[in-house]
Amino acid sequence: MTVTHIAVIGSGTMGRQIGMACAVAGITATVQDISADAVDAARDDMDTWLDGRVTKGRLTAEDAASARSRITFTTSLEDAVGHADLVIEAATEKLDIKRSIFTRLDALAPDHAILATNSSTYGSSAVADATGRPDKVCNMHFFNPALVMKAVEIVRNPQTSDDTVAAVTAVVEALGKKPVLLAKETPGFVANRLLNAVRTEALKLYGSGVASVEDIDTAATAALGYPMGPFALMDLVGIDVTYDIRQASYEMTGDPAELPHPLLVEKYSSGDYGRKTGKGWYSYDD
Ligand code: 3HC
Repeated sequence: MTVTHIAVIGSGTMGRQIGMACAVAGITATVQDISADAVDAARDDMDTWLDGRVTKGRLTAEDAASARSRITFTTSLEDAVGHADLVIEAATEKLDIKRSIFTRLDALAPDHAILATNSSTYGSSAVADATGRPDKVCNMHFFNPALVMKAVEIVRNPQTSDDTVAAVTAVVEALGKKPVLLAKETPGFVANRLLNAVRTEALKLYGSGVASVEDIDTAATAALGYPMGPFALMDLVGIDVTYDIRQASYEMTGDPAELPHPLLVEKYSSGDYGRKTGKGWYSYDD
């Protein structure tokens, strides 16, 4: 199956950039959200980003205009998915909400459409049985910022068909990204598990007074060549998202080692979620 029209459900940080990445790669995209304000914010963000790409010389004005013409924003789920070959759900990380979205997607999307979730937390088997097409359900896990990061994890659930995996792999490649295929579901998938190991050590080092947040991040960037340190990355991804991933891993495995570190719990409880709230481990002016 060739995917020419993608619907993205959720216009937050991830959803809007996944939609923009599709439009820039030549794929027709519709981004849907229940809130008109969220949809307007996503559209404004896209306009600003495309203008910036043109100013920076990364895109021609014609290519930017053509990307703009390929993407629409809507609050109607029916309009968004009615002609989609692939739906990527990037809504809130609440399982009951995701399950009800998947039931509605199953009713509204064409029979051939693949239904993927961008969840960092839940394997698609947690939503596949809310549809009548579990063979066409899988995870497509993008990384923040989705316009920049070059990998997408494709995670099979026990019922995902080979055709589904082949079709989403082709989409990932069409987006100019590298597919990372997981043959089975595991909490945290691959990249977040690698990241969690570094993050846990960083929190332990800071918590035991060995070094400051800034110095630990400097060790990661200047000594190890990471693009950003673990604390700056938590602020980028969101302290809330980071906390939720750990908490869900604990709930899935029952392993106390998966519990969020007390310092992460403290930061989460303070409501300082990182860049999105203007303050996390660091402060942000805008
Ligand atoms: N949105 C879109 N584009 C962005 C961006 C954003 N939020 N932030 C940076 N960029 C673009 C810039 O426009 C620039 O593009 P250009 O070179 O084509 O002009 C390019 O990225 C580099 O940006 P900067 O020069 O401003 O800054 P850096 O070189 O420091 O790069 C970074 C910023 C790309 C965020 C880099 O620091 C990085 O790769 N950090 C690690 C990010 C990471 O690990 N992400 C994965 C998180 S885990 C996750 O998402 C999983 C989920 O389940 C939680």
